[in-house]
Amino acid sequence: MRLENKVAVVTGASSGVGREIALLFAKEGAKVVAVARRAERLAEIEEKSKELAGEIVAFAGDVSLEETNEKMIDFAIEKFGKFDILINNAGLMDNFAPAENLDTELLMRLMSVDVYGPAWATRKAVRVFMENENGGNIVNVASIAGICGGKSGCAYTMAKHAVIGLTKNTAFNYRLNKIRCNAICPAGINTEMTDPALFATADQKGLQSAMLSMHFGTRSAEAFEIADIALFLASDEAAVVNGAIVTADSGLISF
Ligand SMILES: NC(=O)c1ccc[n+]([C@@H]2O[C@H](COP(=O)([O-])OP(=O)(O)OC[C@H]3O[C@@H](n4cnc5c(N)ncnc54)[C@H](OP(=O)(O)O)[C@@H]3O)[C@@H](O)[C@H]2O)c1
Repeated sequence: MRLENKVAVVTGASSGVGREIALLFAKEGAKVVAVARRAERLAEIEEKSKELAGEIVAFAGDVSLEETNEKMIDFAIEKFGKFDILINNAGLMDNFAPAENLDTELLMRLMSVDVYGPAWATRKAVRVFMENENGGNIVNVASIAGICGGKSGCAYTMAKHAVIGLTKNTAFNYRLNKIRCNAICPAGINTEMTDPALFATADQKGLQSAMLSMHFGTRSAEAFEIADIALFLASDEAAVVNGAIVTADSGLISF
């Protein structure tokens, strides 16, 4: 097992990528604190983990609040006695709006979940990891929107660029503390976030612009395929991978 004796906190574990990461990590022996707002969804994976080598415990909370990011890590330490891996995965997408149509309320909410949450969680995590003999490990789920512009709305693109900055800055500053920090940048993933029904209410100018990038016909990922990458980055197999921005886009941004 690749995560035996490891304790992980996974945000956004109630659906999509985070759910798959929590279950995969528990399968690989980790003790996992699964964080999201929908407690009933978390209860389902908590139950499911009883069949697995590790364990999942639910922590219902809103990561857009500073205190949640402190408390979820305190909870992991109280429950399991240590803390080794942080997966900043929870995220919101916007409505594809370009700058001219930025909605202030959506912009603020998106920044709180996609940027401030990971930043507060990272602050707490590195403070704990610096005291750990074996350091610790952070994986941020960003997006290709964090590398290039135009494939999403303005707010989401800004937010995911910030996550890349958080990743690189953290990787550099704590490289001598046995702390690694990497980011995964997927293109489309088949999850609730990309439910086609949501596109009907999207900003049509922004959506048309974003869709221009899809003409290569590259396939979307399944959530479990992103979880596999998170497992690699969180495991000792990636011991020399630090500050990496790992694209998971079937080549989309390379063409
Ligand atoms: N799907 C894609 O095409 C795609 C592409 C590139 C990158 N990504 C990134 O991948 C990550 C996972 O997305 P996904 O596709 O798995 O989407 P998803 O199925 O919609 O899952 C999003 C998760 O984030 C949680 N979340 C949202 N707001 C939260 C809050 N305020 N507090 C706590 N948890 C919150 C949700 O839980 P609750 O609602 O229960 O709180 C849910 O578990 C995100 O960072 C996303 O930006 C997705």
